[in-house]
Amino acid sequence: MAKVPNILVVDDEECICDIIKESLSDLDYNVQVTHNPEDALKIIENQPLDFLLTDLILGDKSGMELLNRALELHQDLVVVLMTGQPTIENAVSVLKLGAYDYLVKPFSIERLKAIIRRGLERQQLYRENVHLREMVSLYEISKAMGSTIEFNSLLNLILNTAAREFDANLGSILLWDEKTKSLRVEATFGATEKIQPKDLFCQDSPIVKSIIQEGQPQVLDEANIQNLLGQEKRNELFKSIISHPLMAKGKVVGVLSLIRSQKSHPFTKGQLQSLSIIAGEAASAIENSRLYENLKDSYLETLTALANAVEARDAYTRGHTERVWYLAQFLANQMGWGEEKMWEVKMGGILHDIGKIGVPDAILNKPGKLTPEEFKIMKLHPQQGIKILEGISFLSPALPYVLYHHERYDGSGYPEGLGKQDIPIQGRLMAVVDTFDAISSDRPYRKSKGFTEALKEIKDNSQTQFDPSVVEVLVEAWNNGKIDMQKLEIQTPKEPFTSVVKNVT
Ligand SMILES: [Fe+2]
Ligand SMILES: [Fe+2]
Repeated sequence: MAKVPNILVVDDEECICDIIKESLSDLDYNVQVTHNPEDALKIIENQPLDFLLTDLILGDKSGMELLNRALELHQDLVVVLMTGQPTIENAVSVLKLGAYDYLVKPFSIERLKAIIRRGLERQQLYRENVHLREMVSLYEISKAMGSTIEFNSLLNLILNTAAREFDANLGSILLWDEKTKSLRVEATFGATEKIQPKDLFCQDSPIVKSIIQEGQPQVLDEANIQNLLGQEKRNELFKSIISHPLMAKGKVVGVLSLIRSQKSHPFTKGQLQSLSIIAGEAASAIENSRLYENLKDSYLETLTALANAVEARDAYTRGHTERVWYLAQFLANQMGWGEEKMWEVKMGGILHDIGKIGVPDAILNKPGKLTPEEFKIMKLHPQQGIKILEGISFLSPALPYVLYHHERYDGSGYPEGLGKQDIPIQGRLMAVVDTFDAISSDRPYRKSKGFTEALKEIKDNSQTQFDPSVVEVLVEAWNNGKIDMQKLEIQTPKEPFTSVVKNVT
């Protein structure tokens, strides 16, 4: 059933209040009347309100004051002013301040009823529209929550959605960091040189303290903000802030804040309810995404341990996976792959040789040339890697690195003998990186040939073994000193090598 509208009538003439109350009594409205402006303010500040009908002159008070305060607290309130001395200036200024209409006394009861009906209808439409937009925002956040969206993208999505819905030009999300036991700015929206949401929410920011202490959503006006910022950090561009704590399992896990830098358009307390819906949904989305990230990390830790176990069986490849993962991420970055791809590249780097776990020790560590039969078994490691990983859906992006890192550009590689663009780019990237590391690190049968020789061999085998476009990126980065050499020198084997022969990188 629809809610009964709450109407407040304020007029310093008691008899007018009574007449209006009486004439609206046959309609389904909850009507309160008062001739005292102080009482009117109390009602405005403490009670839900849908419609305010107030006289323009209330003794020594003005209806404008009530209008301002009422619109500050009730976002979609319908306000109609009454006056016995109409002037064009008055009419224009009350409409500018956000009044819905203007009634000139004396007016007929029918006209009053028509204005109330029209005003409430418009309010209803407005509320339905807001509700619909909230639903759309919630749907977008829920949809993101349902998919395995990357954590930072989720934060940006929440911020962008909230900023759009609340017509804010800046925003931020602070999240609680368990390690440092403090809130940290994790995402911002709309920052410019002159105005940075981070300035408001740095460590020990009084605004943050105030939000956390209260544990309540807040609307801060310009005076509140400047007061909290203090003389030193004053920034006139922060005009209005609306902040909502992000709660999960009864605890504050963060704060969602939106900021406006236009004075004419401050946030209202009435908007807090809408923000609370988005904040609630956002908090669960963030919490779920964090849990998912933790799960991913612990999965990856297990698999890294597995990859390390492979390396541990073969002292000469110590550090190989880590160097491969660094160089692969570096080249992927140079090739313009997005941030969201970096996790996949890391997984690919760590896991590319995981299939070697299925290669018997006698072959993996054979101190001599492998027989054709043994080499055949060694060559199975890409497919064996796939068998280990294929049941784990979130690791599926790593599969092309595992399966295709021994394919050759001319089609003579394994396991599938694919050529050129038929080899997925992940395999073409990994082939370059894997071989570069094999040549530049110590091998059982020889010392490292060094980076310069490794680069030369990669260049010499461009077009035959390697994709020339990947080679070009490596060469360009190398020649311009962009590669972090320390990362390529980690964990090289300590002992010198003699005459042990190995066949596979
Ligand atoms: Fe391999
Ligand atoms: Fe490898």
